Amino acid sequence: MTNQTPPVQNWATDYDIFDPAYVTDPYGIWAELREVCPIAHTDRWGGSWLPTRYADVTEIARDIERFPSANGISVVPVLGIGDSAGASPLLTAGLPPISADPPLHTWTRRLILPTMSPARVAEYEVFTRELCRRLVDEIAANGAGDAAAGYAQQIPVRVIGHILGVPESMSSTFTGWVRDVLEFAHDEERRRGGVIALVTYLQGAVEQRLANPCDDFISELLQAENEGETIGVPVVMGMCALLLIAGVDTTWSSIGSTMWHLATHPEDRRRLVAEPELMPTAIEEFLRAYSPVTMARRLSEDQEFQGCPMKAGDRILMNFPAANRDPEVFPDPDTVVLDRLHNRHVAFGAGIHRCAGSNLARMEIRVAVEEWLAQIPDFEVTDASLVTWAGGQVRGPRSIPVRVI
Ligand code: HEM
Repeated sequence: MTNQTPPVQNWATDYDIFDPAYVTDPYGIWAELREVCPIAHTDRWGGSWLPTRYADVTEIARDIERFPSANGISVVPVLGIGDSAGASPLLTAGLPPISADPPLHTWTRRLILPTMSPARVAEYEVFTRELCRRLVDEIAANGAGDAAAGYAQQIPVRVIGHILGVPESMSSTFTGWVRDVLEFAHDEERRRGGVIALVTYLQGAVEQRLANPCDDFISELLQAENEGETIGVPVVMGMCALLLIAGVDTTWSSIGSTMWHLATHPEDRRRLVAEPELMPTAIEEFLRAYSPVTMARRLSEDQEFQGCPMKAGDRILMNFPAANRDPEVFPDPDTVVLDRLHNRHVAFGAGIHRCAGSNLARMEIRVAVEEWLAQIPDFEVTDASLVTWAGGQVRGPRSIPVRVI
C-alpha cells in the first residue's frame, strides 16, 4: 500500500526528504536552512531532526555516547530493520557494524576491513575493469544508452556479488531487492517484500556454506571467531545483508551522479579526458558534491543539542550530503572543482562508523569513469526531462538517457 505525503510548505519545521523537490534538487533547501534554521525539524516519518552544517553533522557522528547507532540507523525502518539491533525478527543481530555500538561494532568492523583493504581492492579491480569495458562496449556499439540503469546500476552489485560469492545471474534480482528496501518509503508492502526476499536468499546461501564451505566471504565469516568462539549465524546474516545493502545503492548512486555531471558539463568532461592525472581529486569532488548517503541516529534519552530540545526516540538524520556543501568549509560549494585540493568531505561519514568500503567504492567509481571516457569521451543527455533521481536514505540518478556525440 502506498502512502503519499503532502508537499512541504515550510522546510524548517516540516521537511520531508522524500519530497520530490528535495529528491531532485536539495542544494538550495540546505543553503536556506543553514541560514535560517541549521537544525530543522519535522514530525513526518515518525519525527526527526536535520542538521545542515558540517560542524554539527561531524560532531554528532563522532559523539557515539550521546548519539548511538544501536538504537536505530534507518531513516524509515522496515520490519524493524535498522530500528535497533534485535528489533527485527528477520535479522536478530541487526546489521553490524553499522547498527552496532562498541564492543559489537569493534570486532565486526575488524572482520570486514581486510576484505576491503587496498591490496584486496586491487585484486577486484581486474574483474571490475573487465565488467565496465563489457558494459561500455554495448552502449558504444548502440551509440546510445542509459548511463544510470544500463551502466552505473550494473557495476556495484556484480562487484560485491563477486566478493560475497553470489552468482552474477542474480544481479538484477538483488538490485531490485535493495532498491525495494531503500528507495520506496511510501510503499511499505514493497519494502517488506524486498527485505524478506533478501533475508531468505541469504539464509539459503548461509545454509549452503555451512554444508559445503568454499573460499568466499560468507564461508570466511562463518568460520570467523571472536574471543575463541565462532561469531554465529545471526551476526553473519546481518553482516552480509549490510554489505549488500551498503555496497550496492550507494556506489551505483555515486557512479550515476558522476556520469550525469560529465554528461551535462562538457567543459569538465573534456578537461578530465585531456588531464587524466586529475582523476584522484575529481573522484573526491564528485563524492563531495553528490554525496549519496544520509544515515540516522536515534536518541535513547532526551538531549539538548545546539539549543534543540531532542527527545528520546527522535531520529537525527546524518546529513553528510549537506555537510559537504557547507560554504564554511568548502569555498564555492555548489561548483564542482575537479582539482579542489582541500576536500575533507564526509561522503563516507565520520568517526567510528566511517565507511568500511571506501577503498572499494573509490576504485569502482574511478574504473567506471576511466573505462567510459576511454571509449566514449563525448556524450550528452538526450532529453533532460527523462532524467530521474531517487532519494531518501540514498540519493542518486536512476535514469540518464545519453547519446554518443
Ligand atoms: C560511494 C559509495 C559509498 C558511500 C557514499 C558510502 C557511505 C557510507 C557512510 C556515510 C557510512 C557511515 C554510516 C554511519 O555513520 O552510520 C558508511 C558505512 C559503511 N559502509 Fe559505506 N558507502 C559507500 C560504499 C560502500 C561499499 C562499496 C561498501 C562495501 C561493500 C560499504 C560498506 C560500509 C560498511 C560495512 C559501513 C559500516 C561501517 C561501520 O559501521 O563501522 N560502503 N558508508
